[in-house]
Amino acid sequence: MSITLYYFSATGNSLTTARILVQELGDCRLVPVAAVKNQPKIVEENNTVGFVFPVYYGEMPYPVREAVSKMVFPADSYVFAVNTYRGHGGAAPQRLDALLRTRGQKLSLAGGVPMPGNSFINAPEKDAAYLQQQEENIKTLIPAIRNKEVQNYFSEEVLPLRPVSYPNNFRGITADDNCIGCGRCVSVCPMNNISLQNGKALIGDNCATCLACFHWCPVEAIWMSKKEEMWDRMGQDIARRSKYQHPQVTFSDITAQKN
Ligand SMILES: Cc1cc2nc3c(=O)[nH]c(=O)nc-3n(C[C@H](O)[C@H](O)[C@H](O)COP(=O)(O)O)c2cc1C
Ligand code: SF4
Ligand code: SF4
Repeated sequence: MSITLYYFSATGNSLTTARILVQELGDCRLVPVAAVKNQPKIVEENNTVGFVFPVYYGEMPYPVREAVSKMVFPADSYVFAVNTYRGHGGAAPQRLDALLRTRGQKLSLAGGVPMPGNSFINAPEKDAAYLQQQEENIKTLIPAIRNKEVQNYFSEEVLPLRPVSYPNNFRGITADDNCIGCGRCVSVCPMNNISLQNGKALIGDNCATCLACFHWCPVEAIWMSKKEEMWDRMGQDIARRSKYQHPQVTFSDITAQKN
């Protein structure tokens, strides 16, 4: 079975998940969403297509939304998603299904893989267990994908957009005076939303809140300056939370998604 596998990843959980899917499923063409999302039209010739991405507020990341909204699929394609998340995937499959329906398709199957959180924080022992169980958890999804199992993700209710459904810097992601002007955040940003001005990083509003810049800055100069009500509900102040990068992923692996 030949598969085109689109992926998006800021800190490596979804990238490593995509790699394991390739290893288990075989004949896959891995396509980074960040490399194709700016094309006016994305024509997919394969009729088996997968999407691997992190869940943000029960929604897909904006770059995934942008790419899917420009895709043209062969009739009757089999489309599946594998989501990574810290706690649960919420209505991400239903939102992807609704978006696919605007492209004449539907979501056939969705699977989830719990992973360390790159926004809110899990207990360290939980993150360690999720990392250890990642491959095993992904392997449980393989038979259903191979057998092209189908489930229904159609939602009668129109699901409201989330703060991450369109580009905006609602967390006030910004660089402080510790910035050494290394440009790593510029290279890693999938939205090309960061520039260097007088040797310091300037972060604009064309933000997908993926937190790649935050986690890959070598001197922890990037922080989240606008607190959300959600932080109180979660009982966490994540403005300058600890950095996370999947242990099997490098900075170059993340920046390579743009090429
Ligand atoms: C803005 C944002 C919102 C998030 N929202 C959720 C969420 O609603 N539920 C959840 O379980 N995890 C959530 N997460 C955690 C990520 O889905 C999770 O850590 C994911 O595996 C990161 O994937 P990546 O390393 O491929 O970027 C969120 C992360 C970010 C950056
Ligand atoms: S990665 Fe950090 S130190 Fe480097 S330019 Fe960006 S904000 Fe400054
Ligand atoms: S500015 Fe930072 S958080 Fe926003 S899209 Fe770019 S890398 Fe992601």
